[in-house]
Amino acid sequence: MTRKARLITDKDKTISVIDDRLYGSFIEHLGRAVYDGIYEPGHPCADEDGFRTDVIGLVKDLNVPVVRYPGGNFVSNYFWEDGVGPKENRKKRLDLAWSTTEPNEVGISEFVKWAKKADTSVMMAVNLGTRGTADALNLLEYCNLDTDSYYANLRREHGDEKPFGFKLWCMGNEMDGHWQVGHKTAYEYGRLAAETAKAMKMMDDSIECVACGSANIDQPTFATWEKEVLEQAYEYVDYISLHQYFDKKDGTTEDFFASIDNLDEFINTIASICDDVKKAKNSDKTVYLSFDEWNCWYHTIAQDDERMKNDPWGLAPHLLEDDYTFEDAVVNGLALIKFINHSDRVKIACLAQLVNVIAPIRTEKEGPAWKQTIYYPYEHASKYGRGTALRAQIITDTHNTVKHGEVTDVEAAVVLSKDEDLLTVFAVNRNVNEDIELEVELNGFEGFTAASWQALESDDMLLTNDAGNERVKPADKTEIIFGNGVLKATLKSSSWNVIVLRKAA
Ligand code: AHR
Repeated sequence: MTRKARLITDKDKTISVIDDRLYGSFIEHLGRAVYDGIYEPGHPCADEDGFRTDVIGLVKDLNVPVVRYPGGNFVSNYFWEDGVGPKENRKKRLDLAWSTTEPNEVGISEFVKWAKKADTSVMMAVNLGTRGTADALNLLEYCNLDTDSYYANLRREHGDEKPFGFKLWCMGNEMDGHWQVGHKTAYEYGRLAAETAKAMKMMDDSIECVACGSANIDQPTFATWEKEVLEQAYEYVDYISLHQYFDKKDGTTEDFFASIDNLDEFINTIASICDDVKKAKNSDKTVYLSFDEWNCWYHTIAQDDERMKNDPWGLAPHLLEDDYTFEDAVVNGLALIKFINHSDRVKIACLAQLVNVIAPIRTEKEGPAWKQTIYYPYEHASKYGRGTALRAQIITDTHNTVKHGEVTDVEAAVVLSKDEDLLTVFAVNRNVNEDIELEVELNGFEGFTAASWQALESDDMLLTNDAGNERVKPADKTEIIFGNGVLKATLKSSSWNVIVLRKAA
């Protein structure tokens, strides 16, 4: 007998208006993200600034609202002044985070140009590893002020008359991590983040600041770090960051799919710490969550460690170039479902990263740019996941996994578009053995009719794409039955599904 799942959705039962920045991404000066990624002068597709237009095209198709820059671990010893002004004067520097040489050919001004071409905005990070408040203020003045003062004038001298107007600022990166240059205790970091955010807002009160949370849920100081940091910095910051990379850890596909349920606990724990500190401080302000690094990352870690150890200080080496599999794409789809269902608290999320480095887009030097498997769930969510998240009440069977016990067969999220004319059901069947007949009960959606269903399906969990060979890509499905407010579709085992209903004109 076919297994069944029932999804009940009601127009009046909403979670939250989704912040568009839930579909952000990240570009770090790391490996071939910038050099030979977005920037390759001399490439047949390069424009007058050296940016690859084929890459820009793929980024535009993803409709990325915000890109975090320039790191990552890189930012904790970054001297932004090295990357501004005439290119011939720019210094080459050693990047300790990734054991490479940073040529500084691309700096803030170039990245802003690229972001404009790619129709996105910049989420800027300051160096709180080896630098501090004074440097963050200089950078803010250079980027955002229209005053007659040293750094604003320097920007004009460098050819950027108008300020860049960055609205979102990260107060450093993963400062709890022992690997971070300038790693700090929670108290040391909390005080520094508080004073830096406070001073930056004295200079430009239109900005929002993100404090560093833990580098991942397994950090020894997880949760105590967030509590201490927020006790010090609550009044001055608007978001706290969450980072998590998903790793198959030599487990089964079922366990890999099940592991994403940890995100619920992760998000709920950090949200409740924010609210405890809010109560203790008797504050009116709510601190929201910025999940500003997430993705699968595990294929290349061992070989990258070897390379950094045995062959350091290269220019744009191949680092973190994970070849993503079909199952990685399904895992990312599950994560996006979690973010939508927590969109009342998670306002920003950045797929880490965007090009070449653990990325949905890959480039060949002097060759084509192509889409990895994980491109598609991200594209679908960015396209159809804007508007209002509705409660997705799911009644589903469970299946057993080795490490995670019983988990649900189907995970789903439902989004009503901003114009209220499209209703999208994102659903993953994470049962690896059985297809599931999904019934969606739609309450309050009279006049809507099934419009499209796209699915990522494969029997080979380890299938990958490469240049010119897109083995994993969405298929258009037609077998939807719709009537009397109920939609029926059979979701293949291990599949990512995007079912769109449209309101008749
Ligand atoms: O995204 C790759 C790295 O992962 C980032 O530099 C760091 O913040 C995280 O540990």
